[in-house]
Amino acid sequence: MSPASASELEEQNKTATMVNNSEPQTATESESQPILTEKTIEQEKKTQKNRSSHKRDKDTTPPLKWSEQPKRNLESTLKPNEIPNIRDRESALGKEWCGIFEIDVEFKLHHYITAMSHLIENPNINSTVILRADIMKEFKYVYNENSDEPTVETYINENPEELLLNNSNNNDSTDIIKEEERILTRNLDDLEIKKVPLSEDFKPSIEIVRRMIPRNPSKDYIINQTCLILNNSKENSTLIVYTPHISNPEEVPFYLPEVQSIGLLYQNNKLSIHYLPFPNQSVSFFKELNPTERAIRIAYRLLNTAKKHSNGVMNGYQKRVNHDLVVSKVSFQDRYIALKQKYAKTLVDNWCESTDPRKHVFEDIAIAAFLIEFWNTIYESKESFEFRDLGCGNGLLVHILIMEGYRGIGIDARARKSWLTYPADVQARLKEQVIIPAVLLRPHPAIRSTQPHQLDNGLVFKVPLKPKPQHQGNSKPETQSAQFPANKVQMVECYTSAELLSSPQVNTTEFPKNTFIIGNHSDELTCWIPLFGYPFIVIPCCSHNLNGEKARYASNKHMQASNKSTSYSSNSRYASLVDHVEEIATTFGWKVEREMLRIPSTRNAAVIGYQSNNFPGKSIYEIMAMEGGADRWVENTMALMKKPPRDH
Ligand SMILES: C[S@@+](CC[C@H](N)C(=O)[O-])C[C@H]1O[C@@H](n2cnc3c(N)ncnc32)[C@H](O)[C@@H]1O
Repeated sequence: MSPASASELEEQNKTATMVNNSEPQTATESESQPILTEKTIEQEKKTQKNRSSHKRDKDTTPPLKWSEQPKRNLESTLKPNEIPNIRDRESALGKEWCGIFEIDVEFKLHHYITAMSHLIENPNINSTVILRADIMKEFKYVYNENSDEPTVETYINENPEELLLNNSNNNDSTDIIKEEERILTRNLDDLEIKKVPLSEDFKPSIEIVRRMIPRNPSKDYIINQTCLILNNSKENSTLIVYTPHISNPEEVPFYLPEVQSIGLLYQNNKLSIHYLPFPNQSVSFFKELNPTERAIRIAYRLLNTAKKHSNGVMNGYQKRVNHDLVVSKVSFQDRYIALKQKYAKTLVDNWCESTDPRKHVFEDIAIAAFLIEFWNTIYESKESFEFRDLGCGNGLLVHILIMEGYRGIGIDARARKSWLTYPADVQARLKEQVIIPAVLLRPHPAIRSTQPHQLDNGLVFKVPLKPKPQHQGNSKPETQSAQFPANKVQMVECYTSAELLSSPQVNTTEFPKNTFIIGNHSDELTCWIPLFGYPFIVIPCCSHNLNGEKARYASNKHMQASNKSTSYSSNSRYASLVDHVEEIATTFGWKVEREMLRIPSTRNAAVIGYQSNNFPGKSIYEIMAMEGGADRWVENTMALMKKPPRDH
């Protein structure tokens, strides 16, 4: 086999290694990425292809002895620090191990322990393929001066979160499980802590069995892995050991090196990485392995990730983004995986809008997963409420929620092509209506109290008429000004409040009491949604005022001080909008919660209100006045119906 070029290996590593490929990033920075940055279907196929070509290499070709390679080959593809530098001596962990790399570091032991503990809990930082790890059991050893025997604090996960998909597979009455719905697992019953050969000076500090959940469990196996943190008091050093619960190299997942255990040792301001071979491998095999081989490349990256994150701890890096405040990460991710397996491929394959299916499909699946888990925490059952998705656009979110058994309706001023592709019961739940808040059409409460029979406020709204295009032969359509009389009088259509209230094309947001409102990137409606008086989620995108006109809100210093945990710049137009929605909702009386959703969008802030703070706070009339009025809403949104639909 010719040596794989560094770039080929880089390419493989990009798709699946145990190490994040983006350049220096701290633990918290990589955490702050929306974790659902979805690989495209094509990318997944490519990953699979890379994976199988790797398998082919592995099956048929003996590994290269790197010392037999002409030196200039290596020098041309690798930097000096990418060439293993401790293979010519016995590993500091003993003769059973093969030391691969050692580097000088500035951080202290406690920085290293903090960083590695964080990485053990969040292996997704190390690998793009891993979604998360569930801790299955944990033993903490506390040594005290008066006794040789440590006390042990034990944590056992009695009730491991079962992937929803496992359950749905078990219940599959037809016994037909689609390829993309199959979940791959390996030795999950094996929860024994795996020990490794080491000098007795290494005493366990923490022993953990974690369950590695890959992002795509129908392609990568779910496995258990032991993680040990061991201290050597004589040497003032700490060793981290990873051992997957796997018995031979062939079963090792693609994102790990094909070894029994990996050891990362901090000792005297040096960090080194060591491999423990499987029984059917030998130390000399790894001593001779070409530095361009995947196992050595992974060692290089693992070592540098450990260094980078320990440096991050030393430099006092603060976590920037707080996800998972409203819904737990585990329940969201399990739900997301299950929905993705169920819907993603069909939806992407049958996409009929001109927009990018991958953006919409994965984003809406993630929002659906979040909503379902959120609703599980606030409602007794699917029957105890109904949702209304205002400005639902292509209706994808409505489709997924209805298919999942939720009751609700999607409303948009313009129907979309996609609506016709959904099942009939979903189509029946998508309404082409323009939303005009009742408050703009009904009499003021003071008038109602004296004239209870008055149902409308008697206003007349003038909606500017767009000229009909007049095509004559091949001539271009005339412009608006050319069609109006020479004095350019603007033609208008008049609508009374009474007409609008009785029109089936108008929705006045007078919903059943048990309604939950969704406003996902619903632009003009964004600031209105908390004011309708129903529990809601708003995921803001573009800034509009209560007139439905583009607006730029001033940044809110007070909000910024209390909402530091965002992934966006606090002085951006977007940040000001999110703050403004929260402020409107709070003023109206909602107790507002904010969550940075794990969706593949930079506009991922959700403002949620379902509990009263001092409900009702200021009245909707007062808020409309504070916001500069809403007199032009009807004219502006009626005109919206005549515009082509917009999508983001
Ligand atoms: C940016 S799109 C978002 C669509 C969808 N929620 C999504 O995330 O893909 C905003 C939608 O809000 C709708 N919309 C805005 N104001 C509306 C109103 N007054 N009545 C009905 N729909 C409205 C628009 O027609 C548009 O489809």
